[in-house]
Amino acid sequence: MKKRILVIHGPNLNLLGQRETDVYGYATLEAIDSELLREAGELGLELETFQSNHEGALVDRIQEASGKVDFIIFNPAAFTHYSVSLRDALQAVKIPVIEVHLSNIYRREDFRRHSLIAPAALGQICGLGPLGYRLALRAAREYLERDKEADRP
Ligand code: DQA
Repeated sequence: MKKRILVIHGPNLNLLGQRETDVYGYATLEAIDSELLREAGELGLELETFQSNHEGALVDRIQEASGKVDFIIFNPAAFTHYSVSLRDALQAVKIPVIEVHLSNIYRREDFRRHSLIAPAALGQICGLGPLGYRLALRAAREYLERDKEADRP
């Protein structure tokens, strides 16, 4: 059975392409998602994407993923820096997660340097723009492949 990947985008990422283009570039969320869908197909993965501006909706989506999704690629956007409920949701479902940020959050304002999500994630990719999501997808595939091998008797 194909491994299932869920890509979750947090608040204001629906505005990519028009929002602070000096920081986030010109790629739209639609373009990022369709590239990920194409690559997932090539890698033999099933991929679904979800965006919301609402913390509760993101918590609901993470909870729904329990038992149905093998890996989450998550850009929590501003919630990165203050959402205890998103971190708790990730810790509750125990699905492996890679945190992605388009910008380098360590080169910006001080408040962006701290991620409440990072302790609930396997790792973090930031500062590479949309490429970060594609690298996360490849990392997810390798991780899940390794997992499958480890399951073998
Ligand atoms: C972001 C970085 C966050 O600090 C910010 O609030 C965002 C986007 C990024 O992808 O670089 O909305 O997660």
